[in-house]
Amino acid sequence: MKRTLVLFAVLAATASPAQARTWDQIKSSGTIKIATEGAFKPFNYFEGKTLTGFEVELGNAIAKQLGMKVQWVTQPFDGLLIGLNQDRYDFVIASHGITPERQKAVDFSAPHYCTGGLIVSKTGGPKTAKDLSGKIVAVQVGTTYLDNVKKVAGVKSVKTYPKDTDAQQAIMMGRADAWVSDKFLAIDAIKANPGKLQQGDLLFQERIGMAVKKGNASLLKELNTTLQKLQGNGTYAKISGKYFGQDIRCK
Ligand code: ARG
Repeated sequence: MKRTLVLFAVLAATASPAQARTWDQIKSSGTIKIATEGAFKPFNYFEGKTLTGFEVELGNAIAKQLGMKVQWVTQPFDGLLIGLNQDRYDFVIASHGITPERQKAVDFSAPHYCTGGLIVSKTGGPKTAKDLSGKIVAVQVGTTYLDNVKKVAGVKSVKTYPKDTDAQQAIMMGRADAWVSDKFLAIDAIKANPGKLQQGDLLFQERIGMAVKKGNASLLKELNTTLQKLQGNGTYAKISGKYFGQDIRCK
C-alpha cells in the first residue's frame, strides 16, 4: 500500500473526536504544548539531556512572544502528525515539508524556513539523480526524502531508517550508496567527515512549516502572526544566524 494511504488510514483510525485546543483555551491554560523529534541536528536535537536547536529556539521564542510557558514533547518523526491529530500537543515543529499530501491531514503555518533535499555519498559515489540509477539510497522513514527518491527512475532500492542519523550511518558503513537529507544538515555532516563524504545535487526544494491539527484556525493565526513578528524584530535572524551563519527564511 502506498505510504500516503497508510498515513491516512492511520490518521483516520486515530483521530479523536475531541477538538484540538483553540488559542483561547491554550491561552487560559498558560502553557503551550509543542512537539518535535529531537534527533535532527541542528534543527531539533538533544545536547545531553537538553532539547535544543533552531526549531526548539524558534518554538521557545514563539511561546515567549505569546506569553506562554512551553511543554515540549519529543517522539519519533513518523508519529508526530498522528499525535497531533490525537490532540497530544498543540503544534509540531519538526522540519516538515509542506506537501499537498500532508495538507490533507493537517494545516501548516507559513514556512519557517526554506531548504531542499541533498544527495550525499562517499567520495566517488553518486552525485546526481541520474547517478542514483542502480544504487541503494538511505533515507529517514516518513520523509519527503523518501517520497522524492521514489520518483527517481532506476534506483535499485530505498532503505528507510527510523532516524535520519541512522540513514547517514548507513552510507558511512557502506550499507547504502547515497543518503538524501536536508541540505543544511547534510552540509554540516560533510564538513564533519572531511574526505569521506561528498555533496551531490539538490534533488528537490521544499518549504518547511509548523503543523496544527486540521481546522485549528485560531492557533494557526497566532503562529503566523508571531512568526512574522519574530522575522520582523530580529529574533528570527539571530536564532538562524546562531545555527546556520545565515538567515534561512524563505526568500
Ligand atoms: N524535511 C523532510 C520532510 O519533510 C524531513 C524532515 C525530518 N524531520 C525530522 N525531525 N527528522 O519530511
